[in-house]
Amino acid sequence: MSPLNKRIQIIIGSTRSARVGDQVGEYVKQVVQENSPSFYEYEIVDLRDHPLPFFDEVAIPAYKTYAKDHTFKWSSKISEADAFIFVSPEYNGSIPAVLKNAIDFLYQEWKNKPTVIVSYANKGGSGAAANLRAITTRIGMKVAETMPALISTNDVRDPATNRIADTNKAFAPQKESIIQAAKELIELINSTAVTSAA
Ligand SMILES: Cc1cc2nc3c(=O)[nH]c(=O)nc-3n(C[C@H](O)[C@H](O)[C@H](O)COP(=O)(O)O)c2cc1C
Repeated sequence: MSPLNKRIQIIIGSTRSARVGDQVGEYVKQVVQENSPSFYEYEIVDLRDHPLPFFDEVAIPAYKTYAKDHTFKWSSKISEADAFIFVSPEYNGSIPAVLKNAIDFLYQEWKNKPTVIVSYANKGGSGAAANLRAITTRIGMKVAETMPALISTNDVRDPATNRIADTNKAFAPQKESIIQAAKELIELINSTAVTSAA
C-alpha cells in the first residue's frame, strides 16, 4: 500500500451465527469502493475474527497502558485505519453489546478519526444509529452527517435461509445515501489531514 493511500475499515457489528451483518458489510464495501478513487482502500473488519472477552483491562483505555494480549492485538488492528464505517444492526433500540464492548476497549485509536454510521434493522435501525453517534462523538470521532439506514426485514429475505435474497435489490433505496456518506467521509479525511498538517 502506498503511503498516500487511505485505509478505511468497515467494522461489522454483529457476530451471531444467523446474522446478515456480513452481507450488509459486503454490500456497503462494494458501493463505497465503486464510488471513490482507488487510493481509498476499504477493508472488512469482522468482530468474529477479533474475539474479545467482556472488557477486562486494568486501566482506563484513554491512558493506552494495556495489560492484555487481546487488547494489544485489537489496538494494532484499529490503528491501521485512517477512518471507519460502522455497520451495525439495531438490537432493542441500540447497538449489539459485542460492538459496544469492542469500542470500549480502545480510545486513542478511535479519537479524531472520521467515521460513517450505517445501521440496518427491520425499520432501518435509527435507534442504533443515534446511540452509535452519541458513543463515537463522545470518544472524539468525526461523524459524517449522513447515516444510511438499511431495511433488513423478512420482506427482503430468502425464507429458506433467512439470508438477504439479493442485497443489490434489497438495499437499492438506500444506495444513494451510502454514496453520499462515503463522500462526506472522504471530505472529513481530507479536512483532518489538513488540520493535522497545520
Ligand atoms: C436481540 C435482537 C434485538 C432486536 N431488536 C430490534 C429493534 O430494536 N429494532 C428493529 O428494528 N429490529 C430489531 N431486531 C431485528 C434486527 O435488527 C435484524 O434482524 C437485523 O437484521 C439483525 O442483524 P444481524 O442478523 O446481522 O444480527 C433485533 C434482533 C435481535 C437479534
